Amino acid sequence: MQPLATNTVLIGPSILSADFRRLGEQIAEVEAASADFIHVDVMDGVFVPNISIGFPVVEAVQAATELPIDVHLMIVEPSRWVERFAAAGADTITVHAEVDPNLYRTLRAIEEAGAAPSVTINPGTPLIMLEPVLPIVRQVLIMSVNPGFGGQTFIPAALGRIRRLRQMLDEVNPTCRLEVDGGIKASNAGAVVAAGADTLVVGSAVYAPDTHIASAMYALRAEIDRDHHESDNR
Ligand code: DX5
Ligand code: ZN
Repeated sequence: MQPLATNTVLIGPSILSADFRRLGEQIAEVEAASADFIHVDVMDGVFVPNISIGFPVVEAVQAATELPIDVHLMIVEPSRWVERFAAAGADTITVHAEVDPNLYRTLRAIEEAGAAPSVTINPGTPLIMLEPVLPIVRQVLIMSVNPGFGGQTFIPAALGRIRRLRQMLDEVNPTCRLEVDGGIKASNAGAVVAAGADTLVVGSAVYAPDTHIASAMYALRAEIDRDHHESDNR
C-alpha cells in the first residue's frame, strides 16, 4: 500500500530519534500534527555501524497509529526478511541496492507480501544502480546522509541527484514517489522539494529533547508549501 496522499508532499517522521520510553505518545503527536506516514529505520550493525529496531517495534508502531508505516531496511540480505516486515505491518519496504544481488526478486517479493516496493542507494552510490528497477518500484529513496544515525548534516550533492532521478522517473515511472532521508530541516526542505522530492523523512528536526513536535511539523509544512507556491509563480 502506498501512503495515502492527503498532502501533495508527504512528511514522515523517523522514530529513530524519538523517546522510546513513550513511543506511542510520540507517534500520536506527529499524527495529530499532520504526519503522512511513520518511517522506521532498521539497522543490523553490518551494513551500517549501528543497531536499531526490528519486528516487535514495527508491530508496536502499527498498533499505535493508523498512518502507513515506511520501513527502511539498512541490513544485508534484506530478501530474507521482507515477508516478516510486511507481516509485522510495513506498508512500504525499502531495500538498499548495494546489498542485494537479486533486486528484482526482492522487490517482487515485497509486492507479493502486500507492501509497496521501494529501493534506495547511499550518497556515494551511482544513480545508474537504480535504473533497471525503476519501472517496478512505487518509491525510490535518495539518501542525503550516509545511513546509520539520526542528526547528521544534509549532503548538498543530494539535490542534483534528486533532480536527475526525477527526470529518470518521469520517463519510466512518473507516479513513483521520490523520498529523501537524512538531514532534512525546515531550512532545506523547500530546496529538497523544489529539486523534485515529494516524500520527506524527518528525524531529529521533529524528535529532539528541546523541540516542540507539532511546531516543528508545522514549520516544515509551511516551508514546503511556500516553496511550492514560489515555483508555481515562476
Ligand atoms: C539515517 C536514517 C534516517 C534518520 C534521519 O540512517 O535512515 O531515517 O532517522 O534522521 P535525521 O532527519 O535526523 O537525519
Ligand atoms: Zn531512514
